[in-house]
Amino acid sequence: MEAFNKIETILSEIEASEVNSAEMLEAFRIKYLGTKNMIKPIFAEMKNVPNDRKKEFGLALNNLKKVAEDKYSALKEIISQQESDREKESIDLTLPPDSDFTGSRHPVSLVMNHMINIFEKIGFVVEEEREIEDDWHNFTAMNTPDDHPARDMQDTFYLKNSVTNLLRTHTSSVQARVMTRQEPPIRIIAPGRVYRNETISARSHCQFHQIEGLYIDKDVSFADMKQTLLYFAKEMYGPKTEIRLRPSYFPFTEPSAEVDVWMGTDTDITYKLTKGTGWLEVLGCGMVDPKVLENCNIDPEVYSGYAFGIGIERSAMQKYDISDIRLLFENDVRFLKQFSSAL
Ligand code: PHE
Repeated sequence: MEAFNKIETILSEIEASEVNSAEMLEAFRIKYLGTKNMIKPIFAEMKNVPNDRKKEFGLALNNLKKVAEDKYSALKEIISQQESDREKESIDLTLPPDSDFTGSRHPVSLVMNHMINIFEKIGFVVEEEREIEDDWHNFTAMNTPDDHPARDMQDTFYLKNSVTNLLRTHTSSVQARVMTRQEPPIRIIAPGRVYRNETISARSHCQFHQIEGLYIDKDVSFADMKQTLLYFAKEMYGPKTEIRLRPSYFPFTEPSAEVDVWMGTDTDITYKLTKGTGWLEVLGCGMVDPKVLENCNIDPEVYSGYAFGIGIERSAMQKYDISDIRLLFENDVRFLKQFSSAL
């Protein structure tokens, strides 16, 4: 049968074909798999094949198609390997580096450094501490009792096989670290990463950054704190910035407040970030609870102080019009290279 012979001929042709360039590969593809390939017309010969051999003919044709496809993928693999080998060979390690490739700082670092500068100007000193903490510094010293919901396994990442070691849930643990090793006056800020076992979404993540502030001295008042935070907000968000303090609760401060900064709702980003209210919640604060001072061996009869914890991510998102917090943790270079190092 002539039609069968054609199949046989093409089959051995395919098997014997050798390809050693991208152009030859493309020629192979056009010949056997392209829209005008040479296998297609043989299908039309089905009508000339006697009925009792039609099935056999169909199978042989389909097999031919498959052989062509398999051969093509195998050849493609070889060609792309050859090309990447050639590329590697052509890299000249003695050439001077490309001067355009300077990199850029992460938006979280940009905002964090800006905040650090603002507080350093008025005498706060940076303290950096561990991210793996113990229960005592993260919770107990901070007047957070054993049965407090914040201790719950659902919120806190505990280390494997440990009931005391955890990933710090806030930078407030640094307060306890500093107060137990240093006598007042204390005036520190503690920037760093914190972890909470939260569902990841566009607005919240299981890791984020805070800057803790702590000021302990004789006669420190709530008014001192408010003025310091107003100064911070004006430096950070512009001289006309308005803030509001809302009463709040933290186990380690009394009284406690949350500070919102007025952003308005003009853009999509500020509308979403402020949940339509125009006020962006940027920090929690309060007068250090006398029990916390006691826990850290500081006499509450002599000293008082204030503390605050600022979230970084939301300010970064507002500043750079970033609508999804997850972008900050994916380290996609296409995203990161949009940020210039200058503020
Ligand atoms: N640690 C608190 C939080 O993570 C913030 C805070 C710090 C509040 C210091 C008061 C004083 O939410």
